[in-house]
Amino acid sequence: MTNTSSELRPFNRLLLTGAAGGLGKVLRERLRPYTNILRLSDIGEMAPATGPHEEIVHCDLSDKHAVHELVEGVDAIIHFGGVSVERPFEEILGANICGVFHIYEAARRHGVKRVVFASSNHVIGFYKQDERIDAHSPRRPDGYYGLSKAYGEDMANFYFDRYGIETVSIRIGSSFPEPANRRMMSTWLSYDDLTQLIERSLYTPSVGHTVVYGMSANREVWWDNHLAAHLGFTAKDSSEVFRDKVEEQPMPADDDPARIYQGGAFVAAGPFGDD
Ligand SMILES: NC(=O)c1ccc[n+]([C@@H]2O[C@H](COP(=O)([O-])OP(=O)(O)OC[C@H]3O[C@@H](n4cnc5c(N)ncnc54)[C@H](O)[C@@H]3O)[C@@H](O)[C@H]2O)c1
Repeated sequence: MTNTSSELRPFNRLLLTGAAGGLGKVLRERLRPYTNILRLSDIGEMAPATGPHEEIVHCDLSDKHAVHELVEGVDAIIHFGGVSVERPFEEILGANICGVFHIYEAARRHGVKRVVFASSNHVIGFYKQDERIDAHSPRRPDGYYGLSKAYGEDMANFYFDRYGIETVSIRIGSSFPEPANRRMMSTWLSYDDLTQLIERSLYTPSVGHTVVYGMSANREVWWDNHLAAHLGFTAKDSSEVFRDKVEEQPMPADDDPARIYQGGAFVAAGPFGDD
């Protein structure tokens, strides 16, 4: 039996990174029931605090000292900050690869015991859409961005094995108000279902390092979440209600990556070199 948010004891202070981003803005409101104080952080512009229940901290994740200070006094971290699309490796390196190390190292030094990590479907993006996988399937990152999320998952694993810091890595599919295309009919994650997944990731005892696919109860899915059953996550929404609207769009060509690969167009991004 899963507790509802009204029965859960709020944390004293949660940290949300990526607070200026698309999901960060959504979560700023939705995380309120779970914490007395929400510390919001980003390198970008954030709206001012709306009261004593919010703290605004500008911080570049690539700055180790700044991240150390950012994490002081928090009970758990919801790490959503970083580069969120495929970009040249050098851009990914500071924000995502150094950034996730700085978050875990600060967590260790400040005694933070739980992290919710925004991983991505792009860690498995080179699987085809007719393949079915679970959290134990070998990863097949579809670019530098996907590789950085795979590294983040490994970092989470290491900090659990070595220091007992627990993480739920959510391999988010496509979390937007609506599915924008046919691929997202399978990968869509509603904001309500994302919020429930974060709630379960914060409150489920003994998660070790759990990998869960972040998707709603869509009709055709590629990912099997039985290895994360202990989270008690039961998606409530489905992309099905948007099917007619999405299918008004022309069908992509047979050889379009958006139709072939789980990672869609990301598999064809780059190269970004000087060639
Ligand atoms: N939205 C989705 O469907 C989706 C899918 C898979 C994974 N994710 C992951 O979820 C998280 C949030 O996604 P989003 O859609 O809100 O992305 P977003 O790009 O809108 O937000 C990311 C935020 O991170 C901040 N950021 C970038 N570099 C930074 C740095 N060096 N220091 C501090 N902050 C930095 C950006 O300013 C931005 O506000 C990301 O980690 C993304 O990779 C999202």
